[in-house]
Amino acid sequence: MTLAEAKQKLAQYGQEHVLKYYEELDPAGQEALLTQIAETDMSILASCHHKEELAQKGKITPLAAMELDEIAANRESFTATGLEALRAGKVGAVLLAGGMGTRLGSDHPKCMYNVGVTRELYIFECLVNNMLDVVKQSGCWFHLFVMTSDKNNDITIRFMQEKNFFGYNPEYVHFFKQEMAAATDYEGRIYLEEKGKLATSPNGNGGWFISMKNAGLLELVKKEGIEWINVFAVDNVLQRIADPCFIGATIQRGCVVGAKVVRKNAPDEKVGVMCLEDGRPSIVEYYDLTEELMNAKDEKGNPAYNFGVILNYLFQVPALEKLLDGNMPLHIVEKKIPYLDENGELVKPQEPNGYKYESLVLDMIHQLDSCLPYEVVRNHEFAPIKNKTGIDSVESARALLQENGVEL
Ligand code: UTP
Repeated sequence: MTLAEAKQKLAQYGQEHVLKYYEELDPAGQEALLTQIAETDMSILASCHHKEELAQKGKITPLAAMELDEIAANRESFTATGLEALRAGKVGAVLLAGGMGTRLGSDHPKCMYNVGVTRELYIFECLVNNMLDVVKQSGCWFHLFVMTSDKNNDITIRFMQEKNFFGYNPEYVHFFKQEMAAATDYEGRIYLEEKGKLATSPNGNGGWFISMKNAGLLELVKKEGIEWINVFAVDNVLQRIADPCFIGATIQRGCVVGAKVVRKNAPDEKVGVMCLEDGRPSIVEYYDLTEELMNAKDEKGNPAYNFGVILNYLFQVPALEKLLDGNMPLHIVEKKIPYLDENGELVKPQEPNGYKYESLVLDMIHQLDSCLPYEVVRNHEFAPIKNKTGIDSVESARALLQENGVEL
């Protein structure tokens, strides 16, 4: 892109200010900035002026979950079906590790966080240990695809190599990068993070399948005959990955997605809950859950929206492929964004100062025809690490790890 073309594009979106330091840059820096301007989707940024419209929901009604007693009664059969799929190489897993983990506030990617107390025990190591249980049970490896971003890819790969993949078979581990999106102030004006660089952040976890495809990994999925992909977040150190019983239950129920859910610990707990939206499976975020829905009861008198998602989904690959042509809804999220101030000095804000533009994996559920919410025991499978202390923190996860017999 030439400077003239860049100016034209920027003028169209009211972003001319990003060329403020252009003349100070060396030729390579100028070219890099022009390339970034060419590649950045600026059409989405104006949507920050009508955020509320983006969040419009349809009619919400309950969606029953498969509860623990039903799972217990069918455990043998579900597990046999799941193991059969694993042994036939039909299951793969995707670790979503492209996030910035800003709430945890560590300088390194979240997967490198050491949750050990008397020994080293990294988040990635906890996840691999959980995967190795299934490898042992099934007697075979399954492919792990790790999504990173421009901001943490190299360091994540180096870490895993240095740690010898914590005992996982490296031939079954594949890394790919997600896309980035511009970050702006509250008026939708793109911040600069360097004189020759627009501020960017990973574009949310909803683009994982497109990014996998763009990285050429869909070919590997096809070649290997992978029919089911278990997507999971980096920060739940207790979660079961490629859990045979969960896989078997989803297959036997004939659903194209399974979603692990936990019983909420309070009506206003901050988790997204499974529901139907206009008759299709969906997830309503806690901030969209009205008082009325929060207190609604089902026919047995139990809370009607009582199962929260834990970002552990099993997707059927052909169903995912159908989504590739569609658009994902956009979420505008308030975050702390490092930026250059008026004097060209880098500021790392302590409080949110603008917006990031993201798509979310939970929106995929609504685009699919059927979903099985599958209950898991909260204290056995849900120990998210979002913060350093308090709720969903390193502290609470350590206590849960110990409760489950993990030596720290
Ligand atoms: P979170 O919603 O906790 O976001 O991600 P985050 O960016 O990691 O953390 P905060 O909000 O800044 O503290 C849930 C999961 O989705 C992944 C994260 O790595 C985590 O596993 N994720 C999030 C991505 O892979 N890409 C993204 O762009 C965002």
